[in-house]
Amino acid sequence: MISAARRPRVLVVDDNVAFLDNLQELLSDAGYDVSIAATCQAARERAKGGFDLALVDLRLPDGDGTVLAAELKGGSPESEVVLLTGFATLETAMAAVRAGACAYLMKPCAPQELLLTLEQAMRQVRLQAEKRELARRAQVTEKLAAVGTMTAGLSHEIRNPLNAAALQLSVLERRVRKLAEEQQVPLLEPLSLVRDEIRRLDHILEDFLQFARPREFKPERVEVEPLLRRVVDLLAGQAESRKVRLEVTIPSPSFQVSAEEERLRQVLINLALNAVDATPEGGVVHVSGGEDDRGVWVMVDDSGPGIPVALRDRIFEPFFTTKAQGSGLGLSIAHSIMVQHGGALEVGEVPGGGARFVLRLPKAAPVLAKPLG
Ligand SMILES: Nc1ncnc2c1ncn2[C@@H]1O[C@H](COP(=O)(O)OP(=O)(O)OP(=O)(O)O)[C@@H](O)[C@H]1O
Ligand SMILES: [Mg+2]
Repeated sequence: MISAARRPRVLVVDDNVAFLDNLQELLSDAGYDVSIAATCQAARERAKGGFDLALVDLRLPDGDGTVLAAELKGGSPESEVVLLTGFATLETAMAAVRAGACAYLMKPCAPQELLLTLEQAMRQVRLQAEKRELARRAQVTEKLAAVGTMTAGLSHEIRNPLNAAALQLSVLERRVRKLAEEQQVPLLEPLSLVRDEIRRLDHILEDFLQFARPREFKPERVEVEPLLRRVVDLLAGQAESRKVRLEVTIPSPSFQVSAEEERLRQVLINLALNAVDATPEGGVVHVSGGEDDRGVWVMVDDSGPGIPVALRDRIFEPFFTTKAQGSGLGLSIAHSIMVQHGGALEVGEVPGGGARFVLRLPKAAPVLAKPLG
């Protein structure tokens, strides 16, 4: 489903075919997604598909394992490399460290020892990924705080003249409507374009003000099913005009979260609008929700092009947009609202393409029955 849930990928590089076969079986049984290579050249090719761990033999027919290890680590710093060696000397240990390997194993090694070493290396990979995620969140929060302060004043200053302009526009429209029919048409068209632009500016200001108004957070019990249905109803017109089907599936209808309904609705609208935007004519946007032992989840799937892995961190940054008319605030607002709720917002992909956004929220506390008497 989402990146955290996939099987760890291990790349095994060794020129001994029987050994490769054995390892492939052992590691697949242990839950790894295994790819194999018998030469440096083949390993470079395989590594392009991505890997979490590489297990590399020191002696390879077309090169030195330590050189390959350094190369693999350089190309994928978030991954870890374990070196395999036929004999242990101080030199091999030092070469392993220089190559950036996190461990090295002596051949032949017992399956248990091998699995344990890979498990430890995988723990390292996950720890690094968590650290990167924390650093990214801290960066986003910092940026949001700066944006909030800056926009508080600016938004007010812009809003007043904008409201005045909208008011004058209504006056103008009323006067035009009093003219003869044939004079009205050429005047009303540009007026309606100006109104659309003013509405767009107003929408952007509303987004900005979300940062600037640090309101108190007051969570209540919110029924998820009716909320999802209302959001889908609200966007039905927009989806229809773009010829996108908007569906909602809720396996178990009655579940509640602890949330502020208005803000949660805003998160869902932002996600669903993005999904509708990204989906081509004839496509589907699918909203679903349910409960598991981690809490409540809501998923927004679309059948658009998906989000390239390289952009998945950036889309949550304030002002990051690929749309000519976008403010790039939708997802950063959604993300900060989810953090405020003690939840999370993750991005992934739908099997077969398309973007998938997953919200996680804490369940509402159970209602305690009143004692009798
Ligand atoms: N479902 C999706 N499929 C593909 N790309 C998406 C999807 N959702 C978001 N994105 C990408 O993430 C970017 C940021 O989204 P975000 O909602 O923050 O801003 P926006 O939609 O561009 O502007 P705004 O929401 O302020 O009108 C988008 O410009 C788009 O490139
Ligand atoms: Mg958006």
